[in-house]
Amino acid sequence: MINKKVENALNKHLNSELYSAYLYMSMSANFESANLKGFANWMRVQIQEEMVHVRKFYDYILQRGGKVVLTAIDSPPAGWVSPLKVFEDALTHEQLVTNLINALVNLAFAEKDHATVNFLQWFVTEQVEEEASFNDVLQRLRIIGKDGGALFMLDKEMAARVFVPPATTAGQIDKRVLTPCSTRTRCFLQIFFSLPLTNNWSIGGEQACASL
Ligand SMILES: [Fe+2]
Ligand SMILES: [Fe+2]
Repeated sequence: MINKKVENALNKHLNSELYSAYLYMSMSANFESANLKGFANWMRVQIQEEMVHVRKFYDYILQRGGKVVLTAIDSPPAGWVSPLKVFEDALTHEQLVTNLINALVNLAFAEKDHATVNFLQWFVTEQVEEEASFNDVLQRLRIIGKDGGALFMLDKEMAARVFVPPATTAGQIDKRVLTPCSTRTRCFLQIFFSLPLTNNWSIGGEQACASL
């Protein structure tokens, strides 16, 4: 059973993860309006990532016998004037989330809640990746400056990003976000994560599978 202080803090953070998805949705819409479809796609994938984070908190609170409390999500900003401004704000937001996760870890330690400390370790690692991926795009946008041709090329690259569900533990895929393959193809996920051949799972159906 989870203690009330930790439960409240986890619920509050669940809301922050929902806000992250909301913020990136606003950024994606901003890119759509600017006809930067690749950037819009990149942010759409980020929304899916954030919803995975939401679900992890949701599941964990329930698993520990706590109660999920959903509260109002703040309105995100809109109307960014350039991709650079979007990614500056996005990186700042991810840094804020990292601080929130660190504060949660501190709280879990103070409350001697080792299960929650353990649960949060995934997020500690995830935030390192999150900051790095946003920073990578930001640095490239700084190099690009006002070069429209280079921005066009980067937009094309951003269009290639696809959502890949995270592994729950080493070598395992969380199958709840996957759909069964209807063909006899071997899913690339099986190859990548070395899953048994009997598990024919893919993301979004057959397109994600590679025939072998
Ligand atoms: Fe997140
Ligand atoms: Fe994030």
